Amino acid sequence: MDTLRGKYIEAVTAAADEAALESVRLAALGKKGEISALMATLGKMEPEARKAAGAQLNVLKDEIDAALRARKTALADAALDERLRAEWLDVTLPGRPRREGTIHPVSQVTDEVTAIFADMGFAVAEGPQIESDWFNFDALNIPPEHPARQEHDTFFMARAEGDDRPPHVLRTHTSPVQIRAMADRGAPIRVIAPGRVYRMDMDQTHTPMFHQVEGLAIDRDISMANLKWVLEEFCRTYFEVAEVELRFRASHFPFTEPSAEVDIRCSWEGGQLKIGQGDSWMEILGSGMVHPKVLSAAGVDPDQWQGFAFGMGIDRIAMLKYGIPDLRAFFESDLRWLRHYGFSALDLPTVFGGLSR
Ligand code: DAH
Repeated sequence: MDTLRGKYIEAVTAAADEAALESVRLAALGKKGEISALMATLGKMEPEARKAAGAQLNVLKDEIDAALRARKTALADAALDERLRAEWLDVTLPGRPRREGTIHPVSQVTDEVTAIFADMGFAVAEGPQIESDWFNFDALNIPPEHPARQEHDTFFMARAEGDDRPPHVLRTHTSPVQIRAMADRGAPIRVIAPGRVYRMDMDQTHTPMFHQVEGLAIDRDISMANLKWVLEEFCRTYFEVAEVELRFRASHFPFTEPSAEVDIRCSWEGGQLKIGQGDSWMEILGSGMVHPKVLSAAGVDPDQWQGFAFGMGIDRIAMLKYGIPDLRAFFESDLRWLRHYGFSALDLPTVFGGLSR
């Protein structure tokens, strides 16, 4: 009995995993196991001897059984400890925020401007960024030798050798979209045309590519008064202030007559720009009544139709509203800048739901 006990207890202790443990169990207590075989011999013994041997065998069987169980629990515990060690994770570390992209201020402001004018019944029109000389200049009453052409610092596309037609240009303003929209849709018409424009210029407030939004409203009796109301309404909504004051300054553009540049009342206190109050004026756009020659160029009869147009710098009004000091940073793709000045992709600007929040 002692020999058997010693043998099996040692085997149980030595079993390194559940499979080894199961073979020990089978060898001792299985149907053909050693202990079971001894149990089977009890029947042939004398009653006295059987009683003593049976009791001892039962005790031994229970001891081995208990050792098997204990070892099984110990192996399972060890396996769990090993897993916990291997899969250890410091849940007290700070989380890593998901870096989602942001909406660029130019896109945000384009959406805001579009929302406001859509609310006033303006549709969005588009035109190509590589534009013909005729659409960019002639149709807008800027003939070849006109001095306004020099002011535009135009980028010209190349023409094949020997081709003396005027070269195409990178459009210097969104005004050619006026012509395209009127030629396509006729009058009456109410459109805005936001988009990229190009001029050879670079400093803190100029980049070779920037954004404008053009406005155009043509009908039978549209006047400067309508222009003034639309622009005031736009500025109040866009700058999200209760009152704005605009100043219409007589100016000159070849494509409008009369023409006005529009300034907005503001203040610069401690470098902080405030729109709507103060003693300073900031120029924000050019505008006027569309020149009859421009209507004619677009196939609209100037004896029946008239209206206003305006052109505004999107980047510029974005800088004013969101306090962004340097225009060049808009186009440098610096992630820190984009995260700081960018907008959530889920906040679509609407006039009824709020523009910037
Ligand atoms: N095209 C002008 C520019 O780029 C802006 C402008 C002025 C547009 C007056 C207009 C307008 O439609 O009426 O400077």
